[in-house]
This record gives sequence, C-alpha cells and structure tokens, in this order.
Amino acid sequence: MPKITYINFEGEATELDLPIGHSLVEGAIQNDIEGIVAECGGSCMCATCHCYVDEAFLDKLPEMEEEEDEMLEDAASERKSNSRLGCQIRMTEELDGLIVRLPETQV
Ligand code: FES
Repeated sequence: MPKITYINFEGEATELDLPIGHSLVEGAIQNDIEGIVAECGGSCMCATCHCYVDEAFLDKLPEMEEEEDEMLEDAASERKSNSRLGCQIRMTEELDGLIVRLPETQV
C-alpha cells in the first residue's frame, strides 16, 4: 500500500499507508491527523483541506480543476505554488512516499 506522510504546522510527521483510491482527506480523517478540517466532507466546497504538496510529487498529481482553483483562492492560509486541496488528490501507486505539509490554519 502506498505511503503518505502528513507534516503538521509544528513539524510533527505522521506516516501512514493509504489505500489506492482514498483521498488525502479520507486518510487524515480516519487517522486523526491534526491540521485538516475538511468541513465539507470532501466535496471541494470549503478549502479547509488545504495542503502544501512536496515539490517532488507535483507533476504526479491530477490536473487542478477549476473548482479547486477557485476554492484555493479563499483558503485561510497563504496559497503557494504547491497548494492543493487534499480532497481532490487520490492515492495512486505513483504517489507512494508522498509528503504533504499542512498550513498554520484552515479556518
Ligand atoms: S474537504 Fe472541503 S474542499 Fe476539501
């Protein structure tokens, strides 16, 4: 099963196995990862699942849809070039070893 590491704003890292097809939000919620709120439950309507994706994985991610792009404009923490919404990224074999950093605040 591919691995993912979530690093919270304080720098604490949590590595876990995330089944293929599960979103980064599902992995965070099911494993009590602090720093992802996911108010809308993964429907791309809240931007409280904002993540900074490690640069090495950016080109392995699915293209950003317009809705995600718009939601990120309203994210509570600074939007950066590696900002994505965790609910819009689903685990694949290619993403094994993925590292995401979580912003200071989601609300
Ligand atoms: S969980 Fe709401 S936008 Fe991702």
